[in-house]
Amino acid sequence: MATKIKVLIVDDVAATRENIGKLMAFDQEITAVGQAASAEEAIAKARELQPDVILMDINMPGMDGLAATALLSGELPNVCVIIMSVQGEQEYLRRAMLAGAKDYLIKPFSGDELRQAVKQVYASEQNRRKVIPFDARQPEAGKVITVFSTKGGVGKTTIATNLAVALGTRTRQKVCVVDADLTFGDVSLFLNVLPRATAADLAADGDALESGQVGDYLTRYNDYVDVLAAPLRPEQAELVTAAHLGSMLKALRAVYRYVIVDTAPSFSETMLTALDEADHVLVVSSLDLPTIKNVKLCLEIMDSLAYSGDKVKLVLNRASGEGGMDVREVEESLRRPFAAVLPSDGKVVMPSVNRGIPFVVTNPEAAVSQGLFNLAKNIAGEAEGREEPRGVVHRLKRLLG
Ligand SMILES: Nc1ncnc2c1ncn2[C@@H]1O[C@H](COP(=O)(O)OP(=O)(O)OP(=O)(O)O)[C@@H](O)[C@H]1O
Ligand SMILES: [Mg+2]
Repeated sequence: MATKIKVLIVDDVAATRENIGKLMAFDQEITAVGQAASAEEAIAKARELQPDVILMDINMPGMDGLAATALLSGELPNVCVIIMSVQGEQEYLRRAMLAGAKDYLIKPFSGDELRQAVKQVYASEQNRRKVIPFDARQPEAGKVITVFSTKGGVGKTTIATNLAVALGTRTRQKVCVVDADLTFGDVSLFLNVLPRATAADLAADGDALESGQVGDYLTRYNDYVDVLAAPLRPEQAELVTAAHLGSMLKALRAVYRYVIVDTAPSFSETMLTALDEADHVLVVSSLDLPTIKNVKLCLEIMDSLAYSGDKVKLVLNRASGEGGMDVREVEESLRRPFAAVLPSDGKVVMPSVNRGIPFVVTNPEAAVSQGLFNLAKNIAGEAEGREEPRGVVHRLKRLLG
């Protein structure tokens, strides 16, 4: 039998908790895994029990149910909160939705209403998490986005990995990160994955490259993102030629909606292939003079390669760093605006790199993460914002008149 929907019941009145438990007791699809008498207890139990759905009362002594909902929807985004309130608390409902609640129930409610609400929010959450299958025959083929700079250490890998995860999370489509920094690539380190194979192994498998069946050489990061890791040792870098990389990118763009290529800071033949194959090149700069000089040269070379202005986008990383140049002046000097400006934030970026968890996951609200989500939105051309289930919004509007 399929696994049951795990529900946590939160209400300061013991009799109410018991009643709610009884209303769900004989349902084959739902199981009450715990109860909490306060918001604080609810947060602790949610962390421990990882329920699918929380039935949350609003008015409780101490922290109220709305504050707990806001906190839990940030910390445990896969948990759905259903708010329970009494008639006359309509203003609370508006705030509940803003806090991230997925539905609401007005007390007293029937067993049918309760079970239906639990099943509906659970089903729509499962649906929301499904990866959207990508068909390369669709008019919009997979897009290759190459993150490049002629200067080392400007944040290419930081941007490539966080952008990939942001794109996957926001679009729910498949994303592949290709570590084309073949000598010193560290994408696997940034995403804390153990490569089951590398680009050098794939390069040696002519059949896979020819047929495009490259799945065995990829390492999974999460439901959306896979990694094609760089060779494990620097001396293996030369096993991957420019022609190999070209075939890899062609094969990957047939399967992935987005292919993000991290690069080494040089104009080698392999890097030129990564640039030629790209739909977008993100040229990363910072605000120091040597980098700006290099980026200017880099843009000139791209002009000479006849890359369109649309293809090449400038990204400013570590803006707001101490003693840097003025952003406007730099844009004027480079004769292009920055498509994204990411602040310097060592407190968020450094621990995320050291733990191998992208900061768009650990600190989604931080300005540097928001900058990357915006860049992802820009690339995906999709509407931003938390999607609320339409049915609930309609019902809420009706209720609020
Ligand atoms: N916005 C930022 N704020 C603070 N620190 C940052 C930021 N972006 C990158 N860093 C730090 O800068 C360092 C270099 O970043 P990263 O490895 O991404 O650069 P890179 O361009 O890929 O370097 P390489 O050319 O060596 O591959 C990392 O330790 C990272 O923590
Ligand atoms: Mg790097």
